[in-house]
Amino acid sequence: MGMSLQTSQAQAADPTGPDANALYQQHCASCHGADRLGGTGPALLPENMGRLKPKQAAKVIAEGRAATQMIGYKNQIDAAGIQALVDYIFTPLPEIPRWGEAEILASHIQHHPPGSLPDKPKFQADIDNLFIVVELGDHHATLLDGDSFEPIHRFPTRYALHGGPKYAEGGRYVYFASRDGWISKFDTFNLTYVAEVRAGINSRNLAVSHDGRFVMVANYLPHNLVILDAATLKPVKLIEARDLRGNSSRVSAVYTADPRSSFIVALKDVPEVWEISYQIPPPKGFGQWIHDHRDDSGEQNEANHFPIRRILVEDYLDDFFLTQDYSQIAGTARGGEGQVVDLDLGRVVASIDLPGMPHLSSGISWPWNNTTVLATPNIRANSISLFDIETWQPVKEIETLGPGFFMRSHENSPYAWVDVFFGKHSDAMHVIDKQSLEIVKTLRPAPGKTSAHVEFTKDGRYALVSIWDLDGALVIYDAKTLEEIKRLPMKKPSGKYNVHNKLSRSSGTSH
Ligand code: HEC
Repeated sequence: MGMSLQTSQAQAADPTGPDANALYQQHCASCHGADRLGGTGPALLPENMGRLKPKQAAKVIAEGRAATQMIGYKNQIDAAGIQALVDYIFTPLPEIPRWGEAEILASHIQHHPPGSLPDKPKFQADIDNLFIVVELGDHHATLLDGDSFEPIHRFPTRYALHGGPKYAEGGRYVYFASRDGWISKFDTFNLTYVAEVRAGINSRNLAVSHDGRFVMVANYLPHNLVILDAATLKPVKLIEARDLRGNSSRVSAVYTADPRSSFIVALKDVPEVWEISYQIPPPKGFGQWIHDHRDDSGEQNEANHFPIRRILVEDYLDDFFLTQDYSQIAGTARGGEGQVVDLDLGRVVASIDLPGMPHLSSGISWPWNNTTVLATPNIRANSISLFDIETWQPVKEIETLGPGFFMRSHENSPYAWVDVFFGKHSDAMHVIDKQSLEIVKTLRPAPGKTSAHVEFTKDGRYALVSIWDLDGALVIYDAKTLEEIKRLPMKKPSGKYNVHNKLSRSSGTSH
């Protein structure tokens, strides 16, 4: 096919060395994009690799990166080829496509203007107990009735969703983000998309303000945050991600802190955590006590909306857990030390010992022994780490059959569920007693196939597990007896999201 053509061109162009473009198109383009602007993998541009030096990039290409889709290529590409690829990805593009307000606006699609569709669902079901199940296998999503476990509707999504859909207005609307920056708003009552917009070139996730007014999108490319009007998805404001010295950064993630009326922002390349108020007008003086960009005339004009409060941290924090009251976050950078940031004090208040590369954004908490414990899976250790979140002291390490990725529980369930996501036991799912902190059962819903990501029904009576395979399924368990009650075939189902648990910010689920 095209590949042999590229190879022969390469030989013609440079008979002495490997042709980087041909190697790239053959091995890398499917994930990182033919134009290097990103796909399921991040954009590979010198301005977008942050702290990664060419030498480290060579190591990533040769050996891969643990627990990600980035596999090692040293058995397929020789050292000269890998070096050629490093030089290739560190060569700036002649031009990085601009993706500013004009481009975002030009991409905007309004399928149905606000107010034009009926306010009554087309189906009978408890809206509060609906699930969206994302099926990565063929880029679809299924709307599932959480009482009957019957699918209501299956519909295509944009390519490669990332970061979990978010609900608004009691579950009527759900917002999706794809890796290539498309934001889609779906009306669950009318089973149709109502608006779409491309908010970035390479995006990470989105958050919706608790009042349903704003959507904020975290981008890797360009280095910014984009605030959209949640009703129409039209851009409201773009915020560049830069530290005080002007160094720009990719944005790792954005979360909503309901009681604070703010978004919390994780930055990849600068040691800062941001809180951005979406209260209109913003609280007086918000952000001033540390620093912020706005001119402080005190006037309430639009330029003063969405002020940034910067919290300087000791290390990069790009993955974190928010406490249930949103007063503190516990975060790490990949492989770095854990830090606890107090959002009211605006500084680091504790460090935590987290050697196993925790996946803190899927950490959960529950009451235990007159305190609250935070439990987090580890990507590089066969254990679950538990901390007392009053003192940030370790409580226990629970040994598992392999590194995990997602952890879930529900206020009404005595158990916490955690997957074994990596290694030869990835078909196992551990069930942990929340009081004894012991594994009480290990399920294998589909031997030989990865089982992952649990979500509970609204009342906590049933737990839904994904069989993460093209020929996969959703397996529904009685959360008390741990018996299987139903199995629905699905195409690589990944996450599933219950309206009630998500909107009530259940402590058993991530935010
Ligand atoms: C199956 C998809 C896939 C393929 C194919 C793939 N990558 Fe990746 N790559 C990823 C993902 C996903 C990441 C991000 C990993 C992470 O989360 O740290 C990544 C990360 C990287 C990074 C680190 C980027 C950074 O900013 O830290 C480099 C460099 C890289 N890939 C180069 C390559 C090259 C060169 C090839 C081809 C030889 C390739 N990749 C093929 C998915 C892929």
